[in-house]
Amino acid sequence: MVETVWKATSKPSPLCTFLLLIILCILGFYSLHYPHSTVINPNAQNALRFRHIFLSSASNYTIASYLRILTLHPHLAGTAPSLAIVNYVVAQFKSLHLQTHTTQYKTLLSYPTHSSLSAHFTNGTVHDLSLSDSSDDVAVVRPYHAYSPSGTAFAKAVFVNYGRDVDFQAIKELNVSVKGCIVIARRGDLPRGIVVQKAEENGAVAVLIYTEGEEVKGFERGTVMSGVGDPLSPGWAAVDDGESLELEDARVLKRFPKIPSMPLSVRAAQLILNSLGGAPPPEKWRVDLRGVGPGPTILNFTYQGEKKVGTIHNVFAIIRGSEEPDRYVLLGNHRDAWTYGAVDPNSGTAALLDIARRYALMMRLGWQPRRTIILCSWDAEEFGMIGSTEWVEQNLVNLGSKAVAYLNVDCAVQGPGFFVGATPQLDSLLLEVTKKVKDPDSEGSTVYEKWAATNAGTNIQRLSGVDSDFAPFVQHAGVPSIDIYYGRDFPVYHTAFDSYEWMTNNGDPLFHRHVAVAGIWGLVALHLADDSILPFNYLSYAEQLQRYKVFLSNLLGEDKAKVSLHPLTTSIQELVSAAKEAEDEAKILRQQETTGDSVVLKNRALNDRLILAERGFLDVDGLQGRQWFKHLIYGPPGDHESKLDFFPGIADAISQSARMSRKESQAAIQHEIWRVSRAIQRAARALKGELT
Ligand SMILES: *[C@@H]1O[C@H](CO)[C@@H](O)[C@H](O)[C@H]1NC(C)=O
Ligand SMILES: *[C@@H]1O[C@H](CO)[C@@H](O)[C@H](O)[C@H]1NC(C)=O
Ligand SMILES: *[C@@H]1O[C@H](CO)[C@@H](O)[C@H](O)[C@H]1NC(C)=O
Ligand SMILES: *[C@@H]1O[C@H](CO)[C@@H](O)[C@H](O)[C@H]1NC(C)=O
Repeated sequence: MVETVWKATSKPSPLCTFLLLIILCILGFYSLHYPHSTVINPNAQNALRFRHIFLSSASNYTIASYLRILTLHPHLAGTAPSLAIVNYVVAQFKSLHLQTHTTQYKTLLSYPTHSSLSAHFTNGTVHDLSLSDSSDDVAVVRPYHAYSPSGTAFAKAVFVNYGRDVDFQAIKELNVSVKGCIVIARRGDLPRGIVVQKAEENGAVAVLIYTEGEEVKGFERGTVMSGVGDPLSPGWAAVDDGESLELEDARVLKRFPKIPSMPLSVRAAQLILNSLGGAPPPEKWRVDLRGVGPGPTILNFTYQGEKKVGTIHNVFAIIRGSEEPDRYVLLGNHRDAWTYGAVDPNSGTAALLDIARRYALMMRLGWQPRRTIILCSWDAEEFGMIGSTEWVEQNLVNLGSKAVAYLNVDCAVQGPGFFVGATPQLDSLLLEVTKKVKDPDSEGSTVYEKWAATNAGTNIQRLSGVDSDFAPFVQHAGVPSIDIYYGRDFPVYHTAFDSYEWMTNNGDPLFHRHVAVAGIWGLVALHLADDSILPFNYLSYAEQLQRYKVFLSNLLGEDKAKVSLHPLTTSIQELVSAAKEAEDEAKILRQQETTGDSVVLKNRALNDRLILAERGFLDVDGLQGRQWFKHLIYGPPGDHESKLDFFPGIADAISQSARMSRKESQAAIQHEIWRVSRAIQRAARALKGELT
């Protein structure tokens, strides 16, 4: 039998009385300060304390030192120097005693072997427009477009503005044909591959793309492959000994342009464009040129490249959750770069490593997250989100049932100003977290205050684009996601000048913006990993959908009489009611926080519904003709000049209406509206969690 210390007969010692008094005082203090909560929640107190430790252990020095090492050498995916960075990230995670592992894939990559470009002017001179921006810098890959076919062309140059449909239309109206010509386009909003495809459709034989801007120098490298992930394993992971399509397979070939293309420097572009004759450019292009061509200047264009299978490496650090190890909060950033990658992407990698350092410190002080946190370092994003996509495809079912959220940071710091994109249920959390983080550029204010004071206000973008690793998570797997960055449109994008020096001279001289990104990123993750009820708000989602409906209604114009938006109205109402019920339930559960088993199970049941609601927006059949894209609210429209950057299926139906009769097109739009409405209903039912 165990002897109890407090025998009824024995008198308490003075020390015990003293301790008892202290305990009573503490209880009194809590009841004064938390008058409404009957029970003090030690977990919540603890989580608050660790969030404070997280913020106060930030260091611009450590972030700078990580970035310095990450950017010592160029590290293009699939090349030997990129392995050094894989090993560096692994070594950092291991030195922090974090559980670490890597996954490898064999995927189709693309590299240049030879290229040249010269201009033959009418005065008889030939200019070599050398395709190297720093000829002494042999470490940097020569300027190229990944997955461009090899080819040569000796043809007249012609200028097509941004290479959009409206631009080719304007050229036609000038009675100018680009057939047989080498097209020169300035980079706008269209993906490079789409510009090349449109040039090809108009009969061009090769394409040169340059980027404008006062401070722009060098060549902007980039991919011209369409779609997402490894072209040889569309929809499944490119594992060793797995199925791999032949390079000649039609499904592979359709991802690549058929005519060759290369980047052009703005200096070389100016030289060529100023020598063009022909019709003067349309006024609305706002360019100072005599003519758009073709010619008389002739270009001698050669590009030779090879597509080859290479090994890529994703690196993971895992912090196992104490209570819900099977629920995952994922933080991801890619590691591969076209050149030195100081902005793109290693400003994000440096922030990720600093979060790892701070989480490890918290673990030494006794913290363990409630749910599992996974830090992901992706490879081959630049080629087309390959590392993240292969992994998502490989883990689709586990992610589908267990992923809480995916938090992406690509180019963490490009300059001043906070920018963020998110699926709408995460809006409220983002606003709250930015109120806790110091603004890097103005003493005494928070990120939130500076952000709210900008022209756009606290504008949160949506994740319909396919320009970073959130694409497979949102658009294929339906995982609530966020994408965070400071600054935009930096002049050294994808050039050899994206170096540590550029960062210290221009992007973030004191590394305070890096600290802010790491703070927001890591704090959002801590809430998602530690809050007993997930801070998801589906009323924001419903409000956003309501605005989309109004926008769509205006866009439909005359078709509105024949196309009904009623299914959208009804399904959005269902989502509103489910969202309100979930909010009420969350409020009650938050008030009665204890560790009792039944409450834990109730919390978990609500959290699962909050997670699964986003999956409701997925459709097994995906977008028509692009089945990999499963999300019916967010995804890229097939027509990049579409006015809708949401409801991609409806956007496609509207774009195709020109090729159909009025009746057919209205039926197609109506069908897509029904599909979106059913998706919203699925989300609402998942949130309600009851069977019909
Ligand atoms: C283009 O050609 C058509 C038919 O020859 C002519 O009517 C029109 O004026 C021309 N447009 C321009 C801008 O030269
Ligand atoms: C020939 O024309 C090009 C382009 O206009 C110009 O840059 C170059 O200086 C000219 N060369 C001579 C010798 O006039
Ligand atoms: C075009 O350039 C290639 C490679 O630099 C060269 O071999 C070829 O002679 C050039 N063609 C003409 C017509 O100048
Ligand atoms: C970190 O911030 C401090 C305070 O602004 C600054 O003096 C220091 O130079 C910064 N360190 C780095 C590496 O930029």
